This record gives sequence, C-alpha cells and structure tokens, in this order.
Amino acid sequence: MKQIAFTILYISLWYTVCTGQPARTEVLLEKGWRFTREDPAGAMLPGFEDDSWQPVTVPHDWAICGPFDANNDLQRMAIEQDGQQQALAHAGRTGGLPFIGVGWYRLKFAVPGFGPGKRASLIFDGAMSNARIFVNGKEAGFWPYGYNTFHFDITEFLDPGRENLLAVRLENYPESSRWYPGAGIYRNVHLLVTSNLHIPVWGTRVTTPVVRDDFARVVIRTTVEKPAALDIASVSLVTDILDARGRKVASAKSGLSRYDEGVVEQQLVVEQPVLWDTEHPHLYTAVSRLYDGEILSDEYATPFGIRTLEVIPGKGFLLNGKRTQFKGVCNHHDLGPLGAAVNDAAIRRQVRIMKEMGANAIRTSHNMPAPELVRACDEMGMMIMAETFDEWKSPKMKNGYHIYFDEWAEKDLTNLVRHYRNNPSVVMWCIGNEVPDQGTANGPKIARFLQDICHREDPTRPVTQGMDHVDVVAANNFAAVMDVAGFNYRSHRYRDAFKKLPQEIVLGAETASTVSSRGVYKLPAVRCSMAKYDDHQSSSYDLEHCNWSDLPEDNFIQHEDLEYCIGEFVWTGFDYLGEPTPYYTDWPSHSSLFGIVDLAGIPKDRYYLYRSHWNDKASTLHILPHWNWQGREGEVVPVMVYTSYPSAELFINGKSQGRRTKDLTITLEGSDNKASQESFDRQKRYRLMWMETRYEPGTVKVVAYDGQGKEAEVKEMRTAGKPHHIELSADRSVIGADGRDIAFINVRVVDKEGNLCPHDSREISCSVKGAGHYKVAANGNPVCLTPFQSPAMPLFSGQLTALVQASETPGEILFEASAKGVKKARLVLAATPLPVQ
Ligand code: GAL
Repeated sequence: MKQIAFTILYISLWYTVCTGQPARTEVLLEKGWRFTREDPAGAMLPGFEDDSWQPVTVPHDWAICGPFDANNDLQRMAIEQDGQQQALAHAGRTGGLPFIGVGWYRLKFAVPGFGPGKRASLIFDGAMSNARIFVNGKEAGFWPYGYNTFHFDITEFLDPGRENLLAVRLENYPESSRWYPGAGIYRNVHLLVTSNLHIPVWGTRVTTPVVRDDFARVVIRTTVEKPAALDIASVSLVTDILDARGRKVASAKSGLSRYDEGVVEQQLVVEQPVLWDTEHPHLYTAVSRLYDGEILSDEYATPFGIRTLEVIPGKGFLLNGKRTQFKGVCNHHDLGPLGAAVNDAAIRRQVRIMKEMGANAIRTSHNMPAPELVRACDEMGMMIMAETFDEWKSPKMKNGYHIYFDEWAEKDLTNLVRHYRNNPSVVMWCIGNEVPDQGTANGPKIARFLQDICHREDPTRPVTQGMDHVDVVAANNFAAVMDVAGFNYRSHRYRDAFKKLPQEIVLGAETASTVSSRGVYKLPAVRCSMAKYDDHQSSSYDLEHCNWSDLPEDNFIQHEDLEYCIGEFVWTGFDYLGEPTPYYTDWPSHSSLFGIVDLAGIPKDRYYLYRSHWNDKASTLHILPHWNWQGREGEVVPVMVYTSYPSAELFINGKSQGRRTKDLTITLEGSDNKASQESFDRQKRYRLMWMETRYEPGTVKVVAYDGQGKEAEVKEMRTAGKPHHIELSADRSVIGADGRDIAFINVRVVDKEGNLCPHDSREISCSVKGAGHYKVAANGNPVCLTPFQSPAMPLFSGQLTALVQASETPGEILFEASAKGVKKARLVLAATPLPVQ
C-alpha cells in the first residue's frame, strides 16, 4: 500500500511540474474547530463571534465525556419487540449520556488549489444528526440520517480571495434511538478540490465478471463530469490497474467517444489474478486519469479486490467458488470509551480481536459503517454485511428513521451502495433490521423497492435483512422477495422457514443474544432467560439469554447440521453503550451485556467458546470460572473448558475429576426439546463441563487430548493470593506519532506469582509522560459511572483498559499505573514518525 501511495503522490507532483497545480487535492478538516452546545441566532454567519466556544478536533463525540445521568433520554415506553406490555422508564437505554439537543461547530478554512476552473466539495463521513451545513453564512446542504456519508458541491459558496467559514448545526431528538448513537461530527470531514473536468465523488464502479486462474476481466465504469462547453474530442481517460506492490498489471485508454450519459466503460484483463479472501486480502488499485488534451485534469484511485460471490439455492454462499459459512458478529458503531468518534487504531484493534477469535464477518448493525472500518476489513480480510436502517415507514421509536423514510430512504441507500460497492470486504447489503413493516400490507413492496435500489447501484451483491416474525414473513411474501432470507433469533424455526421459502438457504442474520459480565459467575449454574441479580450483572457461565434468544450452541448446531444454513451473525462481538437488557429500568445499568468482548475490549469467557468452534488455525484451551471462591470451600462450583480439542481431563489439586469428551452424538433434531436443553445436551457437543466439582483453593489443571487420544496441551489456573502488584501489557508498543494513534494497555492487579486477582476493584490512577497523553479508560462494568476520561478508574474483575494517544512528535511515551495497596507499574511505548498498523 505504501508503494501505491508513493505512485499517486508522484503522479500529482508530475502534474505540479507541468501546470503548477495538483490534479485534485483532498484534505481532512480536523483541527481548529470551535464547538458549542448552545443554539445562538446567527451562528452560521462569518462575522459571528465564536471565541468563547470550545476548541475541538474532529472526529468529535460531544456526549461521550458525560456525565452519565438516568435523565439523559429517559425513555418511558413499552418496547414492543421485547414483549413489553406497559410503558416502563428505560433509564440507560441510550447510554445515559447527554447526546440529545443541539450542537454547533464552526471552522475557518482555506481551500488549497481553488480558483477559476476548479470545483470544491465537502464530504462528511457521518454527522449525528440532522446536519445543516453552512458555507460563508449560506446553507449548502442538509442531511438528516446521522450514520450516512454525504457530500455537497460548495463551489458556488466559496470566496476564492478570502478565508471561508464552515458552520454545522446538528440536532439529536429524544426517543430517536434504541442505543447510544453518539453526537456531533463524529466521523471525518474531507475537503475536495478538483478541476471542472473531473471524476465525481464515488464516480467509479469496478466489477470482476470473469475470474479464472489465468485471468480476470475487470470492468470499470467511470463517471466523467465536464463543463458543458468542453469538446469531448479532447478528453481521454487512462486507467491503470496496480497490484498490491504498486506494479502496473493492466491499462486502458478511452476517448470520450464512448461517453454515454457521462459514463465511460473500460474492460481490462488482469493475468494470473491474486484473489481477495479473508485469509489473503489481496488488493488492487485502479488509478483513473482524466486528460484534457495532454493536460492531466483529474486522477482518482479506487482500491478493489478480485473475487467472486455467489448465492446458490440449496448450495449456500460461495466466496471464490468455495462454500463459505458466515462466522459473523453484529457490532454497533461505538468504540466503547471513545464513543462514536471514529479512530482507526480502535477499529483495527476490534477487527484484530475478532479475527483472532476466528470470525470472518461483521454486520454493521443497524446502520452504515465508517469508511475506516471498511478499509480495515478490506486490508485485514474480514467480510462485511453493510446495513442501513432499523426502521422503515413504521415506527419503533417516536423520532426514529420513519420520520425521514419517504423522503430519504432512496438517497440514504444509494449513498451507502455507491460509497462501498468497490470494497471487496463488503459481500452483502442489509436493508433493514426487524422493521415493523414486516407485517404491513406494504411491507413486501418496500422490501422490493429497497432491494431493487441495491441491485440498480450494484448488480454483484446479494441483499438481505434481519426478519424476526418468521410466520408472518413466510406467509406474506416479505421473506420471499429477498435474495437471502435472514432471520433474527428463532433458530428453531429455520426448518419451517426453509420449507416455505424459495431461496433454499437461511442466514442467521442475528443470533444468540447471550448475556454475561466478564469475570462474574452466578451459582447454581443453570440455563435461564432474562435473569436479573442485585449487582446488575449476568453470569459468565454463558447460560443466560433473553426471552427471544438462546445460547451460542443453539446456533452452532443449526449451522452445522442444516446444509442450507449459511452461517450466523452473533449479537454482539463487542459490548456497546446503551441497551443494558435485561436491566431495562435498573439504573445505573447503561451498557450492554451481549458482547463476546466487553466494553473495554477485554474478552469474556464466551470469546473462547466461539474461538474453539470458529478458529481452525489455532488451538483453544480455556478454563472457567476463576478459582477464588473463599467461603464456598467444599461447595459445588462447576468448571467448564472451552477447547478446540475433542476431550480433556480435569484435575483439582492433582485429583482427577474425570475426563470429558465432546458428545458428537447430540443432533439438532434429538436436542430440539426443553428437557434436552435444560440438561445442556447441546452444550455437551461443544464445551466440556464438570458440573459437580467442589471448590477447594489451589490449582485447577486441564489436560487436553487430540483426536488420536494423545495429550496435546495443558493449562493451569491457581487461586490468587493477596493482591501484590499491577501488571501492564499494551496491544502495540510502537504507535504512529500522528496525533491519532492509540495504544490499548491492559491493566490488571495480580498476586506475587502473577495470578489475576479476579475480585479486585480498586481504583487505578493512570499518568502519561512524553510523546503522548492519557486519553480514556474503561473497565467493562456496565454499571460503572466513572467518566471514561477520568484518569482514576476502578478495576472490574481485576482488569481495565487504558488508552494512550500519541502526540505528533515522535519519542518515548511513559505510562504509569498506581493504586493503593499494590506496587505500581510502568510501561514504555514508542511513537514513531510512520503510522504502524
Ligand atoms: C434484536 C435487535 C438488536 C438488539 C437485540 C438484543 O431484536 O435487532 O438491535 O436489540 O435484539 O437482543
């Protein structure tokens, strides 16, 4: 990728030599913004005095610093989808953070390279929400949906000779969301300057209709915008395809004689193509250069991949001809303690953690992803199901998307598809989530309308949606319309749905909704639905779920035993802000318990259950629960082992507790009854369980055996002694000195021997010196009200994550964590001039 960047820079410089101006410039509008939560008259005018406003850098989430309060968007309503009959006061449903209301941003900006014959556009990757954009006092555009990318041509609003003023007014309504949406200009803003003869935003569409071992046909449709007076005879388009090392592997030159309605189609052949897949995410770049005679007028780079996608009835989903099951997770867009504010390092860390678990796909529930996520997935090899809406015409929320649907749905969906149709990681579009329109007379027509927009803009990808009323959608054609029938939960109904539907495949669009709190175990260990406890936590024995959902194994077994199931998207990969189900009304609960990984990015036990089933490249051997049960000596404390090995023997203080083997005789049909589920039959096929073990302090050891019965791996866990010192480890010890990059530091309290103290909740004080600063911390406790930006944060189950951000000066960063009663710890990181991925 570095080489490509160099090539593109070189092309720009070449042009600079010829004419003194680059063909196109794109700058990020990051620094120098002013922000207020007030709504003063005239705030859009250049002469308005904003000195008293807060200086901020974009991306910026105005609400993430809190303070948390139950009255922030307190929602008094009945959540019908969750079966509530009466209105309840939902306190932390949207995170208890102050995102409701108005916020203004202002920025004085110069437009590099702007002048006669030039055009300028603003691209907002996302602004939450109801964005009104003013340039030099005049309204240049409006975009209500906070999750989408939008752009406006601002040429006519600019004053070439003077400094320009960009003002943005945002407004978030109460009862508009079912989770924390974030607030503010939380994604990047780009200023783009091109010539009048140019390729517009998202102006290329790359498809690969023929992919063989020896060659691939690449079809590139490029939109060309030109001044009316320009004679097309003088215009030509040269497109080069560069491989991942920046070498030209194909090229085409076209005159505009083949210019049809502003679009030029070129067909190129790449020999011996290297395909994109999740293990080898090989990328190519199409570099399109537009000439007016000999003069380069524009250049535009489109990263893309060569790969095939097919959905074949009865056969499944095929990536490059290979049947591929989705081992997917649903994720919300927030990045835990960073809120919605986009950050590349945080996004890449999430993708890394999911890949290491063995996941191959992310559903961007329930809205459009950030470009940084799509780029990371392209480069790191993760498939994306890109989603749009949580509502269509019929409401879930008083001020939800239904208030915009008629006027905006087509524009919103078109932007999503145009934005990401060249990204190889995006493999499916998802047009809705549990929309109440499922049961309306118009529902199937709306589904068809939205799916057709996807097909019109991108003929290559299948379209799905998450449906939760199996009988209704099977009876009224709502499900039959879709390319792929996607169901949320109710996996026991897949077989019925399959019989009634024409697609011959079933996708678990949303599954599991198992709830757990990292490091918290409830006894007795029993399967239960909507269990609540005084501490507002859920058990990490991974036996608790919602009343509409089930456990991981209930879904594993469907997708293994039913040929036509094409995989699942688990709710959720990471905990997120808001939706603290089942603690709907129980403040201070304000973040989810659904995550396989907690809000701090620390894996819960469930992570290893998924890893043992999904990651076929590395072995997994994980013991739960912790072994510090002072006061329960001699009582039953079940032990479970999540492992990729077929069997294992457990020892407590050297005494064998017996050997367990995964029970592969358990079938989907045979276990499809309550008694079987209560006796954990399905669990026995996937996890090893010792339900009668009794606690005695000391050592728990597991010896795993491979398929041939040979001892393969051993793991031990000890009762921790007195808390002794702090231990630190960073996800990356070298980060980029770019002012944005972040290192995530795991902070834990351990005993003298280094065993995690699993009940420790002491407050940790963090400090940072040198070439970086303390950013935020999180402990993953869904009831903790300490603001994320506080440098003093309590541990949860012995751990937390501290985030340290690099400055723009390279150098050493010294992180220190201290706490009462334990030895403090230091960690040295390096911030280097080059961003490190
Ligand atoms: C689903 C819904 C998700 C989330 C989940 C919690 O029905 O699609 O957004 O609310 O339930 O279990």
